[in-house]
Formats: sequence, structure tokens, C-alpha cells
Amino acid sequence: MFSIDIQTKKNQESVNFKKNFEELIYKFSEVKDIEKIHEYKTSKELFSKGKDQDSWLHKQIYKDFDKCDKSKLIISYYQLCMKIKNELSNSTGIKNWAIQRFPSVRIQYPENISVFEFHKDNDYNHPLGEINIFMAITKCKGTATLNIEKNLGWSNYEPLILEAGEFAKINTSIFKHGDYINKENYTRISVDFRMIPTNVLNLSEVKNSLSKKRKFTENDYFRNSRDIEKTLKNS
Ligand SMILES: [Fe+2]
Repeated sequence: MFSIDIQTKKNQESVNFKKNFEELIYKFSEVKDIEKIHEYKTSKELFSKGKDQDSWLHKQIYKDFDKCDKSKLIISYYQLCMKIKNELSNSTGIKNWAIQRFPSVRIQYPENISVFEFHKDNDYNHPLGEINIFMAITKCKGTATLNIEKNLGWSNYEPLILEAGEFAKINTSIFKHGDYINKENYTRISVDFRMIPTNVLNLSEVKNSLSKKRKFTENDYFRNSRDIEKTLKNS
């Protein structure tokens, strides 16, 4: 039996990233509370294959990510990534990491899901050695969060409970996870992002991400941690 170990954490960088995320959403909507964003505009159709990253709000947020290093939100994302990467470097002795270039945004409106099926990320060609970080932009609880299996292969799912600004390191490349219909009467927003030692990535066979057809290399889906470090020095 191999059980998942979930430890939640919050730091200055995650709080700052959450604040910038909220600020961006307030720029293009008229709500005072992002958990009520569905009252401004929702997405009633149940998310399905190829459509779970496609709502009006996803499009607005990804438009900001397209500004890359000129996006205040992306810079704060990289600050968070580097904080986590430095902790991983200290605990493993590995200095060089590949970090997901832009985080994946999950939006779960009431009566909807945020990912279209229960899966392991490895089913979608993600390398097995990835570390996945799931971070709550709004609170995450009950049916308004990711449900992840407790024991590898047992399909015994438990909700990942987080306060806004908290994050957890989870291994979703091997542990199965997914969503139930959100019955909590608020919109859940979270991001997830991955990092992997460069030498481990280079050992893996290069495959494409199925959702956005990006290559799992340092020049596409991932970005080298040294390159990010340079960006942060210049920003
Ligand atoms: Fe996943």
C-alpha cells in the first residue's frame, strides 16, 4: 500500500501571488468577492473534453499570461516557484529544475466540474517524476476542490482542503484525481503547476501535452530554473 502524503503550506510568495490573481480578476469583472464570480458571468455547460480550460474567465487570465515576463502575475508566480524550488534543492541537493512555464488554471463554477474526468497526469503524457503543486486561490473544500486517491490504485478519493493562499505538493502524475459536481454554492479557483529535476526530465522520453499540444521540454511546457532566476533579477 502506497499512501499519499499531503502537507499544506502558505508563505509570503503564495499570499502575494493570490493577491495579484484577485487583482487581475477584479480588473475585468464587477464583483467584490471572487468566490461570487459566477454571479457576474458563469459557464453553465458541463465542462467536457477539450473545454475545461476554455471558459470566458480562463481566456481572460490566459491573455494576461501571454504577456509572459511583462505580467505582474507571472512574475509573482515565478517568485513562488523559485521559493519552492530552493526548498527542494536544499532537501534533495539538486540545483537545476524545469518549472512549468505558466500555471494551469482550474475554475469550478457551481454545478460544474473543473477537469473533465478522473485521471492520472501520466495518462496525459506527463513525466512520472513530476512534483505537482496545487494552490488555492479561493478556499477549496468538499465538492469544490480536487479529490485525490488516498492509496495508490485504490480509487478511494478524499477532498484536498485548503484555505485561500495555501498550497500542497502532491504527486498527481501517479495518484488518480478529479472533481465531483460543485454543490458548495461558490466558485472554486485554483492553479496547479509542476516541477521536475532537469536531469530526470532529460531521461524521460519527450512527449506532447494532450491538452495544449506543448512539448514536455525546457523550451516549451517547462522553463529552466536558471533562466527564471535571471528573469527575476531583471524584473
Ligand atoms: Fe491532473
